[in-house]
Amino acid sequence: MNAPRESEPPAHPLAPLTATEVERAAGLLKPRIGTQAAFCSVALEEPSKASLRAFAPGDNVPRRLRFLGYDHPDPPDGGFDATVDVGTSAVDVRRINAGQAPIGFADVVQAVRITKADAGWQAAMRRRGINDFENVQVDPWPAGGYGHPSIPPGHRAHRAISFLREHKTDNGYARPVQGLIAHVDLTAGRVAHLEDHGVVPLPPEHGRYDAASQPALREATKPLAIEQPEGVGFTVRGNAVEWQNWHFRVTVHPANGLALHQVAYRDGDECRSILHRAALSDMVVPYGDTNPMHRWKHVLDAGEASIGNCVNSLTLGCDCLGEIRYLDHVAVKPDGSARVVENAICIHEEDYGILWKHHDGHGQTTETRRSRRLVVSTFHTVGNYEYGFYWYFYLDGTLQMEVKLTGIVGVSAVADGETRPEFAPLVAPNVASPIHQHLFCFRLDFDLDGGPNSVSEVNVEPLPTGDDNPDGTAFHAFTRALRTELEARRDADTARSRSWKVVNQKRVNRLGTPVGYRLLPGATPKLLARANSQVAERAGFARHNLWVTRYREGQLCAAGDHPNLHPGGAGLPAWSAGDESIEDTDIVLWHTFGLTHLPRPEDWPVMPVEYCGFTLQPVGFFDRNPAITMPPSHQ
Ligand code: CO
Repeated sequence: MNAPRESEPPAHPLAPLTATEVERAAGLLKPRIGTQAAFCSVALEEPSKASLRAFAPGDNVPRRLRFLGYDHPDPPDGGFDATVDVGTSAVDVRRINAGQAPIGFADVVQAVRITKADAGWQAAMRRRGINDFENVQVDPWPAGGYGHPSIPPGHRAHRAISFLREHKTDNGYARPVQGLIAHVDLTAGRVAHLEDHGVVPLPPEHGRYDAASQPALREATKPLAIEQPEGVGFTVRGNAVEWQNWHFRVTVHPANGLALHQVAYRDGDECRSILHRAALSDMVVPYGDTNPMHRWKHVLDAGEASIGNCVNSLTLGCDCLGEIRYLDHVAVKPDGSARVVENAICIHEEDYGILWKHHDGHGQTTETRRSRRLVVSTFHTVGNYEYGFYWYFYLDGTLQMEVKLTGIVGVSAVADGETRPEFAPLVAPNVASPIHQHLFCFRLDFDLDGGPNSVSEVNVEPLPTGDDNPDGTAFHAFTRALRTELEARRDADTARSRSWKVVNQKRVNRLGTPVGYRLLPGATPKLLARANSQVAERAGFARHNLWVTRYREGQLCAAGDHPNLHPGGAGLPAWSAGDESIEDTDIVLWHTFGLTHLPRPEDWPVMPVEYCGFTLQPVGFFDRNPAITMPPSHQ
C-alpha cells in the first residue's frame, strides 16, 4: 500500500508529492533560474490552516511545490527559494540573501572531488603515509557560521575531514585522519585553506561491525512471529490513517522529516481536533571538545542537511515486526528529476503490555486490558549517524514521540597516553569520541477542539510548614499561565515534575474544567554552549526547552528557512522577540529536547540505540479513562 501513483490526481491538499508533479514543476521553474542550477530539495507548500480546515472532498486541490537550490549567479548569492503552482503554472522565484540553500547531493560529490584533487591535501596525506587516495573517505561537514577568511561571503562552503578505508566495505570511521581539515570553497571550486594540526598515527583496529568480521557470533534468539490473521487494525487511504479513534495524515518534509497533520480523536460522534501539525522543526549536534577537529561542529541536520531527504528506503531492511504498511517519499535530484524513496514511512501495530488492570480481592474478580499502539516511523542516515523518529498513538489518547539514535559516533585518532577523557573518552585503542549533544526542536501546532488555545506551566512544589501543614508533608501543583511569547521561554525541571498544559478555555469537560493536553518532557538537557557562541546564535531554539509563539504562516523551521551558512539570529528567537500575547489564540509550542552524549566503549563500533522524546497526554480532554470501553483481550 504505497503513495498515490502517477496517474491519480491528489485527492487532498496534504497528499504526498508525486514524481509527475515534481518533474512538471521543476520543468516550469527551469527557464526562470540559471542554466547551471542544482536542486537541493522540494516540499509541498502546505495550504494555510484556514483553507485546510475549510477543505471538503471534491473541492479543487491546490498544489504548490517549493524548491530550494542554487544556480551560480554573478555575483554569487544564497540560491533560489521558488514556488511553483502546478495547477496554474505560476512560478515565483525569490533569491536567498541571508544564508544558503541547504546542502544537496551535488555539493557533497563536488566537495569530495575538489578535496581529493588538491595538491596540499595530497601532500598532507602522504605525510601520514597514505599514498593511495582511492579508499580515502572524505566527509564534507557543514561549515557552520564560521566563514573562513579565504572564502568570500556568498560562496557555498564545506569543511572536509578524511578517514582511511583499507577495503571498500570497511567501517569508514575506524581510522580518522587526525588533524587535517580542508576548507572547501564550492563556488570557486577549490580548497581555499588547509588546516593541519600535525600527524597522529592511524588507529590499529578495523572496527568492522558486519557479522562476518566478528570472531564469533552468540546463539541467535528464538523466532518470534507477530501475526495478524484477521488483518491489520488500521486503514491507510492515500496518506490518511485511521486506527482506534485516531485520525491523521502523514508526510515526509525535506527539512522537518516525518510530519503528522490534522491529528484528531473520535470521541463518541465527534471527531475532535488535537494538533494541526506536529514535526521536527530543526535540530543541532554541538560538540563540546576543545580539539580543533571538533569544536566548530554544530550540524543542523534538518535545516542544513535536509534530514527528510536522508530518509531510508525500508526495502533495504525494515526492522519492524508484524504486518507493515509503507508510504513512499518523493524527493528531487540535482537535475530536477524525481527520486522516489520506496517504503520510507513504516506503519504498524505493536502490543504494548498492560493498558489497565485491577484485581478486586473482595469480589475475587480481575479486569485486565492489553495495550496496543500504532507506530508511525522513519529512519534517516545523516553521514555517520542514524536517527529514527517514532510517533506512538495509544488507546488512551496519549501521543508520544521517541527519537532513536544509533550509527557511528564521531571520533578522533589519539596517540598513546594522550587521552582527555573529560572531553573525548576512549572508545577503542587510539580512538576517542568527543562529548556532544543532540538537541531536537519539535514544532507542535496545537488545535485543541479547533481553538483558541492557551498554555500554562505546572510545577509541583513543597509547602512551608504551618498550621495546615504541621508535619511538613504537603506539596501542591502550582499552575501559572504563560501569557506572552517571552514569558513562555521555559526550561525543563525534573525535580518539580514540570509540565506544560495546553487548554481550550471555550470548552469544558463534565467536571467543568477546560479540556487540555499536557506536554511531559523527558529528563532533557538544553544547549550547553555559551550564549555568545556561534551555535547559540545559529541554533537559538536550543537555548530553551519550551517556546510558545502565536501561529504565523510560514514559521516551520526553528533556525529559519535557510540556516546553511547563516550567521544566526533567525527563527524562533526572532519570531518571539515581539513578545506578543499567546492567550486564547492560535498557538504553537516548540519543544527542544535531547541527549548529552558521553561516549563509552560500548558505543563502538556501532552504538546501541539511545532514546529521547516527549509525551502528550490528555488532561481532562476526555470525561474519564477513554480506554475503559476496551473489550477484554482474547487470550
Ligand atoms: Co551522539
